[in-house]
Parts: sequence; C-alpha cells; structure tokens
Amino acid sequence: MKIAFVGKGGAGKSAIAGTFARALARRGESVLAIDSDPMPGLAFSLGLAVTEAPPIPDDAVIERKEGEEGPRFRLRPDLTGADAVDRYAVTGPDGVRFLQFGKLRTNVAPLVRSQFAFRQIVNDLPDDRWSLVGDLPGGTRQAFTGWGAYARTFLVVVEPTAKSLLSARRLARLAQADEGSHQVVAVANRVRGPEDADTVQRRTGLEVVAAVPWDEAFAEAERRGRAPIDDAPECPAVREVESMVARLVGQSV
Ligand SMILES: Nc1ncnc2c1ncn2[C@@H]1O[C@H](COP(=O)(O)OP(=O)(O)O)[C@@H](O)[C@H]1O
Ligand SMILES: [Mg+2]
Repeated sequence: MKIAFVGKGGAGKSAIAGTFARALARRGESVLAIDSDPMPGLAFSLGLAVTEAPPIPDDAVIERKEGEEGPRFRLRPDLTGADAVDRYAVTGPDGVRFLQFGKLRTNVAPLVRSQFAFRQIVNDLPDDRWSLVGDLPGGTRQAFTGWGAYARTFLVVVEPTAKSLLSARRLARLAQADEGSHQVVAVANRVRGPEDADTVQRRTGLEVVAAVPWDEAFAEAERRGRAPIDDAPECPAVREVESMVARLVGQSV
C-alpha cells in the first residue's frame, strides 16, 4: 500500500493518517509513516512525542561542489533511501517507522539540507519493503508532483462544508491532471449523517472510501497530545478508520 493524505489545513489529515498507520501496522504490515508537513501533527496521532523524532542529520547530506550539476544538496552517495529509513526513521508504537521532513523552528536554514535529503529518500524507497502512509501539507500542486510522488493513491480528506468541498474539488482536479497512474479518492471527515458522505461524493466526483464521524473523543485525544487509537480506541472515528484500513488492505492502493 502506498497512500498519502491530502486536504486543506485542519481537514483532519494528520489525525486520520496516524490512526490509519497504526491500524495498518496492527494487521501485520511494515508501515513507514511519512510526514511532509512542516507543522507538527502526524507524530502525535501516531503516539510519538515530537522530540523523539529528529529530522535527518546534517552529516547525511552533502552539498554540491562548484561546477557540479544537480540539486544543491543530496543524500550522501553511500546511503540509499532504504538505508536512510533504517538509520533515521524512529520506531513508534506498533512498530510504525516514522520519517519526518523537519519541523519549522526559529531558524529555517539548517532544515534546508535535511529537506532535500527527505525528498530524495521518499522518492528512492524500495517497492515492496514498506507500506507507505503519507501526510502531505495543505492543498497545493507540490503535493502531487514533488512531496507525494511515492503515493499510488491520494486520499483527499474533506469535510461536508462549502469551503472544504470547494478546496477538495480543486485538489482532485490537480491530482487528476497530473501524469502518473495514481488514483484519487475521498475520505469524508466530521460527517454527521449518511447524507454528508453523499454530498462529498456528489460535489467532488470522487469515490468516498470512508466516512469518519464527527467525534469529540478524537479531538480530545489531540488536546491531550495522545494518539486517538491509544486514547479512545473504541471511539467511532477510530473504528471507522480501522474499517477503512480493512477495506483497503488487499486492494492495489
Ligand atoms: N472526525 C473528527 N471529529 C472530531 N475532531 C476531529 C475529527 N477529525 C479531526 N479532528 C480534529 O481536528 C483538528 C485538526 O485535525 P488535523 O488532523 O490536525 O488536521 P490537518 O492535519 O488536516 O491539518 C484536530 O484537533 C483533530 O483532532
Ligand atoms: Mg496536519
């Protein structure tokens, strides 16, 4: 499985992606969770303290020499993407590996190096070693062409509100306009009834693969900085994400 969650900020990408990754790992898959969003999110919903997850260290990255071609920074040539995951991805609950792009702190400069390396790593992963679950930043084209190039399926997280539907339609168009053979589907989030999932289907034109209910316990987990699957394992939103995992496993997503 190689999937990535996209959608506008606040749609619920990180909360759903983290829960999805944990539930997938519990079914016995080797899961690599990939956070390309400079705002912290996925680490919490996986159940990892962000401090446990440093970005890729500077010494893994070399700078282009004068007269050389190619990008300014790249991964040290003796490291493959898989080596880099083995070394730098932290291991979270249920054995989920977690690789992050590097969080914005006061000084952005040191991050530039690790961000080049990050992109190279996620585009150089062996085909069958991990199931990939990505959390992509906001709603731009970059998501599909650059940061999320590893994904076979994009899941657009969309709420049944006018604003969110509009932005999901835009995202769906961007994703579909892109070359490559990926598919695009929707996850309706914060639904309050079956008609909400229908609205998402109708207004985005995308197949809705899950309808995650509005769930106070899901939001409460976030307020406590805990993974929803640990904090409220029986809550309806977690249950729906688990059923989505069960439905998607075995499909070529
Ligand atoms: N189905 C839901 N019910 C209640 N709260 C939710 C639901 N989905 C997400 N949330 C909450 O909404 C907030 C934003 O979600 P988040 O996953 O951080 O969004 P994104 O990563 O898309 O910016 C979080 O506090 C999260 O716990
Ligand atoms: Mg997020």
